[in-house]
Amino acid sequence: MGKTLDLVAATALDFRARAERRLPRFLFDYIDGGANDEVTLAANSTDFGRIRLRQHVLRDVSHIDTTARLAAEKVSMPMALAPIGLAGMMSRRGEAQAVRIANDAGIPFTLSTVGICSLSEVKDASNKPFWFQLYMMRDREAVKSLLQRALAVGCTTLVFTVDLPVTGMRHRDTRNGMLTSSLAGKVGKLRQLVIRPGWLADVAIGGKPHTFGSLAALVPDAPNLNAFRAWIDAQFDPSVTWSDIEWLRSMWPGKLLIKGILEVDDALAAVAIGADGVIVSNHGGRQLDSVASTISKLPAIATAVGGKVEVLVDGGVRSGVDVFKAIALGANGVLIGRPWIWALAGGGPSGLADLLATFRREFEVSMALTGVTRVSDIGPELIDAAG
Ligand code: GLV
Repeated sequence: MGKTLDLVAATALDFRARAERRLPRFLFDYIDGGANDEVTLAANSTDFGRIRLRQHVLRDVSHIDTTARLAAEKVSMPMALAPIGLAGMMSRRGEAQAVRIANDAGIPFTLSTVGICSLSEVKDASNKPFWFQLYMMRDREAVKSLLQRALAVGCTTLVFTVDLPVTGMRHRDTRNGMLTSSLAGKVGKLRQLVIRPGWLADVAIGGKPHTFGSLAALVPDAPNLNAFRAWIDAQFDPSVTWSDIEWLRSMWPGKLLIKGILEVDDALAAVAIGADGVIVSNHGGRQLDSVASTISKLPAIATAVGGKVEVLVDGGVRSGVDVFKAIALGANGVLIGRPWIWALAGGGPSGLADLLATFRREFEVSMALTGVTRVSDIGPELIDAAG
């Protein structure tokens, strides 16, 4: 059974431990795992841990303002929830719950193309515009129709993922049987399910239907993860180039953030086609294993394009201190992925609300102890090169 859980989950990793106990193994591994040897997955967070900050004292920090602007929206802190596929398999109607909690916390929520809840279900749960994430699919009419539906429900910002021309090699998904349809594999998955009665009652039964809400007409077999992978492999278009992004730009009147940028030349190309921002991302270490951590790639990209477009970063952000570090190194904001789904899966809506409050407080405390009171005052001089 492993270590006894603490009475209260305080951090993202505490919620991770809870999510691991609650979810069938193949689902936990799907959200938790990375590509190949998970070198990049580990580097993303360890590189945040290596950065040292400078403490400053006696600088009146009685009024701290953590608010900022992201994609032209006022936010309570410079952070948004990243798109996560299958969130509704991890928690009952997961995307609809998450958008509500994000609204309350004053930060944007991003709905994944492969979310379980549809654009309209999320709109009904939300009291303000949310962000929508899209991949380029071979069927351009399907892309157009998704864009139109996103606009119709009031999405203001499109997060367009460009680092998935093919799916990374995620060996956990093979080891745990997620990708096998053999009889032994099916029996193995059934075993993983029956030892998770809480999840079975609440999510598997109580959280139906489990189709990809926004793609229901295209992928009828969605709850079957095998079918899902097969569909992704068949539909995601590996021939996409910047000219397709230009086409997308002409189709989307809202803000366009290009997600999956790691190199300066690609960031400059995103600016050239008229993107409003780039998201420095290695897909949470789920794509090309052995690329550098995102926080190590951020400063050069921020220097190159930071004045022209917004620069966001994701990958390895595990606390409000990490948010502070990303801002100090030139980001306008961060996206968190695993932490939010760990909290929602492991602690339900109140768990996610608690985690977001903790991030906000950690960010605020970091500001107070480095001696700044406004987000715009957080800069590279607060990073300690001696560290
Ligand atoms: C999809 O984007 C995934 O990372 O599984």
